[in-house]
Amino acid sequence: MTGVSSTNTRPAGPLWLLAELTYRCPLHCVFCYNPVDYKTNTHELSTAEWKDTMKQARALGAVQLGFSGGEPLLRDDLEELVAYGHELGYYTNLITSGIGLKPARLVALKAAGLDHIQVSFQDATQAANDALSDTKTFAKKLEIASAVKAAGWPMVLNVVLHRLNLDHIDSIIELAVKLGVEYLELANTQYYGWAFKNKAALIPTHEQLKHAEERVAVWREKLGNRMKLLFVVPDYFEKTPKPCMSGWGNVFLSISPDGTALPCQAARMLPGFEFPNVKTSTVEHIWYESDGFTRYRGDAWMKDPCRTCPDKAKDYGGCRCQAYLITGDATSADPVCHKSPDHDKVIAFVDAAQRRDNPNDYLKVQKPEQQALANTTEVPVVWYRSDHNSLHLSKNGT
Ligand code: FES
Repeated sequence: MTGVSSTNTRPAGPLWLLAELTYRCPLHCVFCYNPVDYKTNTHELSTAEWKDTMKQARALGAVQLGFSGGEPLLRDDLEELVAYGHELGYYTNLITSGIGLKPARLVALKAAGLDHIQVSFQDATQAANDALSDTKTFAKKLEIASAVKAAGWPMVLNVVLHRLNLDHIDSIIELAVKLGVEYLELANTQYYGWAFKNKAALIPTHEQLKHAEERVAVWREKLGNRMKLLFVVPDYFEKTPKPCMSGWGNVFLSISPDGTALPCQAARMLPGFEFPNVKTSTVEHIWYESDGFTRYRGDAWMKDPCRTCPDKAKDYGGCRCQAYLITGDATSADPVCHKSPDHDKVIAFVDAAQRRDNPNDYLKVQKPEQQALANTTEVPVVWYRSDHNSLHLSKNGT
């Protein structure tokens, strides 16, 4: 998918519309990619505004519609939005923690035509799952996953992997087998938002990753077609960058809860941008004309080493957000790339992680308030995603 129409030079429209309905969430996951300062912006689009946005994006060619958040189930109009998306001809996908998915809502979502539900777990045991999300939700999630399966949707489970749970890979896959999962997404943490804030605690060791990869290979062999296992090595351990979002403004259109339109969910923190809002701009203008969507589209913005790299059409220079977070300049090459002059910074993050103690020690997760107790460089403090911490970090610099 190049995102460029064959008949003229105008880029193709978006294929993927991600509706981040709300940043509210009952969970407090340490690896959340939502903006750290989310609590400073609590405005949410109305039902009518979401519908209008969905209609406009569909008219431009979008075919996939994801509902996510925060926790999209916290919106009372979710069923209505799903039904409208279905009526417009989208393939609809709900990305959820499952918390709040009562039997009556499952029935309503089925009737609304929801095509796909992805339920997330944090780990395979109550203790670990609940520690990572700072909630008591494991038992509830088990119930919900079974109910989703019983309602006839394919069982799609997502587990974000990192230093604190990679050693539990066998138990995680065993849990998926028990739940009758058809598709298990073992998604190694991407370091944006809260995950970037907590990267010192989350970056795994080489041994952990190697072991997990080996175990996944064994399970793939054992399970065959019964379950599809997706395992992608985390960016920081790669030497070439991922083609983030399949290119900036190429296929992906993300709408934040307040209507801000973004080429990826993390882009909001990039300085020097005024990202457009669906309340004041049409989706067509946003996609084709706005600086937020056109600045890094194509390759004219690139500087070396990307500009002259033969792989630039494959990886689009990697990830703009990662470039900014690590180098302070969103136009830099993604520092994950071995050709980047900043690649040593990524290596330093990974090397530092190798020197720390047994990662499972971090399951005695420290809250910032307890920082004094854990006041040692060997034990990184973990920031839970919470309203309190969001306001605290926004006020004191994230
Ligand atoms: Fe924003 Fe990669 S996450 S461009």
